[in-house]
Amino acid sequence: MKNRKSVSLFVSMVFGAALTGAGVAHAATLSISCGAVGQELEFCKTGAEAWAKKTGNQVNLISTPNSATERLALYQQLLAAGASDVDVFQIDVVWPGILGNHFLDLAPYAKDVVKNHFAAIVQNNTVDGKLVAMPWFTDAGLLYYRKDLLAKHGAQPPQTWQELTDTAKKIQDAERAAGNDKMWGFVWQGRAYEGLTCNALEWVSSYNGGTIVDDKGKITINNPKAIAALDTAAGWVKTISPEGVLNYTEEESRGVFQSGNAVFMRNWPYAWPLAQGPESAIKDKVGVSALPRGGADGRHAATLGGWQLSVSKYSKNKELAADLVMYLTSAEEQKRRAIHGAYNPTIESLYKDADVLKAVPFFGELYDTFVNAVARPSTVTGAKYNQVSNEFWNAVHGVLSGRAKAQDSLAQLETSLKRMSRGGKW
Ligand code: GLC
Repeated sequence: MKNRKSVSLFVSMVFGAALTGAGVAHAATLSISCGAVGQELEFCKTGAEAWAKKTGNQVNLISTPNSATERLALYQQLLAAGASDVDVFQIDVVWPGILGNHFLDLAPYAKDVVKNHFAAIVQNNTVDGKLVAMPWFTDAGLLYYRKDLLAKHGAQPPQTWQELTDTAKKIQDAERAAGNDKMWGFVWQGRAYEGLTCNALEWVSSYNGGTIVDDKGKITINNPKAIAALDTAAGWVKTISPEGVLNYTEEESRGVFQSGNAVFMRNWPYAWPLAQGPESAIKDKVGVSALPRGGADGRHAATLGGWQLSVSKYSKNKELAADLVMYLTSAEEQKRRAIHGAYNPTIESLYKDADVLKAVPFFGELYDTFVNAVARPSTVTGAKYNQVSNEFWNAVHGVLSGRAKAQDSLAQLETSLKRMSRGGKW
């Protein structure tokens, strides 16, 4: 009797697993670490739950700090300890060279679909011939503006930073005089963290001041155009941007803009559906454009951002974890995330998908901004990228907060990067 019961239990377990189509005999619980900026966690959860239901497994979500810099520190701790607690890691586009050796080569799982993703991101995620992360979503810095306020004050979306500065000041002053004393001209990400590196790279690059370290490993940051770019940005603090911007990440900027208290905001695409959401004070009042050029001879520059999914080498369920990653990065899931969350697909054909373009028109209108986005020097500096970025954002933060002059700060930065690079070899 007893035996028969356990046999039937066994049969139903196998049968159950077969029915779910997972091709695995045991249901498992996986852990995935997801970002929690804006709607990230919610979208990760619905996607992971759909996979769990389909395959008869379970997924735990591990929420991470909003600052990419704090998130990296947490991952480094977990991975250095060889912890098996997290099976799937959401990693930043600048981390493959830093964390890659802790991750599984996903090439065998991705062989039929990898060609559908942007080649540059696949290349970025390939370290020593291994595909250490699957592209999940990409992004680039954008300029959000208040259509209604620009129209009211007879202004156009700015083409250069000087125009942005002038328009922001004019509208800010007029709105304050009319009674909105909380109004600011421009909010962005000025805290000393990775987000400031992204913002400042946009300023520098829009002045044709390079990318801190070039593709060959040469340190280029100490140049007059980069100095001019930082001087411009330093001029915003306490005039068109609150002093508090020096401690803003993405979500603090969005908070100010979305409650109706800023004319312009620099942010990533995720802010769009939230600004347009039912709880937003600025619904239907928002326009999105490319960031301004450095000057008449400058260019529109947006930093390339984005997130990937990796499977930990220390996972006890690597096959299943890879299956979850392939599900979450699939065209179907990327389409859902694009339409409802404005997460830019990494699958090129989705930029021609009518449903996607209808939901997020700027995916089409600003397509060039996304495909020509400026990469941070993470490939060439490899495992040292975070140290490079850390030196850069600290140098910039010193200038923005008035503690140092751009000229001195960039000269010092050049010296410390030279020391770090061992003569450009990195
Ligand atoms: C966004 C980008 C990411 C970048 C981060 C900085 O999340 O996608 O690449 O590092 O912002 O705050």
